[in-house]
Amino acid sequence: MKRVTDFLVIGTGIAGLSYALKVADYGGVLLVAKSLADEGSTNYAQGGIAAVVDALDSYEKHIKDTLIAGDGLCDEEVVRFTIEDSTERIKELVGYGAQFDRKRSGEFDLAREGGHSEHRVLHHKDRTGQEIERILLEKVRQHPNISLLENHFAIDIITQHHLGVEVNHRTPDIRCYGAYVLDLKENRIDTFLAKTTMLATGGNGNVYATTTNPIVATGDGVAMVHRAKGTVRNMEFIQFHPTSLYNPGEKPSFLISEAVRGAGARLCNLKTEYFMAKYDKRLELAPRDIVARAIDNEMKITGDDHVYLDCRGISKYTLLQHFPTIYAKCLSTGIDISKELLPVVPAAHYSCGGIVVDENACTSIERLYASGECSCTGLHGANRLASNSLLEALVFSHRAYLHAVEVVRDTEICSDIPEWNSEGMVLNEEMILITQSLKEVQTIMSSYVGIVRSNLRLKRAFDRLAIIHRETEALYNRSVHSVALAELRNLIKIGYLIITMSMERRENRGLHYNVDNR
Ligand code: FAD
Ligand code: SIN
Repeated sequence: MKRVTDFLVIGTGIAGLSYALKVADYGGVLLVAKSLADEGSTNYAQGGIAAVVDALDSYEKHIKDTLIAGDGLCDEEVVRFTIEDSTERIKELVGYGAQFDRKRSGEFDLAREGGHSEHRVLHHKDRTGQEIERILLEKVRQHPNISLLENHFAIDIITQHHLGVEVNHRTPDIRCYGAYVLDLKENRIDTFLAKTTMLATGGNGNVYATTTNPIVATGDGVAMVHRAKGTVRNMEFIQFHPTSLYNPGEKPSFLISEAVRGAGARLCNLKTEYFMAKYDKRLELAPRDIVARAIDNEMKITGDDHVYLDCRGISKYTLLQHFPTIYAKCLSTGIDISKELLPVVPAAHYSCGGIVVDENACTSIERLYASGECSCTGLHGANRLASNSLLEALVFSHRAYLHAVEVVRDTEICSDIPEWNSEGMVLNEEMILITQSLKEVQTIMSSYVGIVRSNLRLKRAFDRLAIIHRETEALYNRSVHSVALAELRNLIKIGYLIITMSMERRENRGLHYNVDNR
């Protein structure tokens, strides 16, 4: 079946929703999510959204903090315009009805997180993402021009390749005509033709065995763009959040927000030695790469599976007021954080790299935009400053909207695109072939391509992944498509990109640390 639209939007997190809402005033929007609309990282975001909204703060300070965290790889112009736009984007969210916590005086109650020199993180208790997702989804569902399709999985973007034209990574004018989308209810692959397409598909944490990301975070957008010969970069910069709850077997790992350290929690090893002073003078509020590596090192020295976060210095009142979700979750696992030490461990959390975009969120492929975690804008460089990602998504989706509404005016739908060809495909015989390969990919990545890397480990990961790649491609080429198989294929591509870009980076910078680099 063919469907035609002005704006195709793939993803219903902060990036996709905030964009869809704006372009919908200028044409028809098809908005797809592979699962339920609110299942994405946005809904799980805890700490908040960084923005300059306080007289004591300034754009210059926030810019400086972002540049320091990014360790020399940020694009300074991008950092500047993103942060200078933060005040306006927050006003807009508040105008939509988003509730951020306020003090009695009515001013925003701002939190502080690692790498920030000021209190500047707006939050809704420890459920900021849920509040943003709630308000954006509510508005999207009310808009008459938006068709929201849940349980629709985008398999590939459509380009000239699907018209039989050869394209490669040097082809200058690759163009996107829409996407092939698997309707999970009908079990059918439809052809979605669009004047412009937005990828807002989020992160890829599930390439690792331990991640804070929900299961939908499988790097689909990045994999699709790389297959379509678009440009992807900085994939080696995977941010491991220092503190996820150590609770073996739980997936995703439950995040313990950095804002808890911002409120005074401290890290210690199992001998209750508070170790951060050995690593950085900013202690627990050093940028994430430093704190995660410090924890990794402590765990290696002691041989323990976790360290502790000591929240006992924070009053119970503050814990209950600001971190009710975290407090309740820990209590449900038997730990009262107002009295007991909390076992924590780093977990894969955020991808700083992704689909390369310019200042208008345009990718290297014409008529294709990317925003949010799947994109690489230049804001984060080698390490993202805490709570800058929700902001980045808002700013770039806004810029994409301004650009895309002009593009659709002079663009025609390409109607020659063939429907998806499933001829000769057979039902995949055994699910175990997919689930086992997925576990292997995650084990390889966690064992060899984690916080601290080496040339030998990267080579081993590359070789092991190549075997799984060959097996999976063979399976893919003969099987009727399923989400599990498509996601596995995408995660293998993501693993490949992280490994090869790690191999190419011959320096230790930000989140990338290889013991063989000096
Ligand atoms: P997401 O919100 O992840 O949405 C992705 C969407 O894409 C989903 O709708 C999904 O269904 C859809 N999708 C993906 N692939 C396909 C496909 N093939 N076909 C169809 N649909 C598809 N950042 C902050 O700035 N502050 C925080 O406090 C913060 N806390 C966090 C806490 C946690 C636990 C996590 C995991 C992340 C946190 N982050 C935080 C990071 C931030 O939440 C994410 O980077 C951001 O929400 C990503 O938004 P997004 O719109 O790009 O993607
Ligand atoms: C957190 O609350 O620690 C997450 C913030 C982020 O990932 O930016």
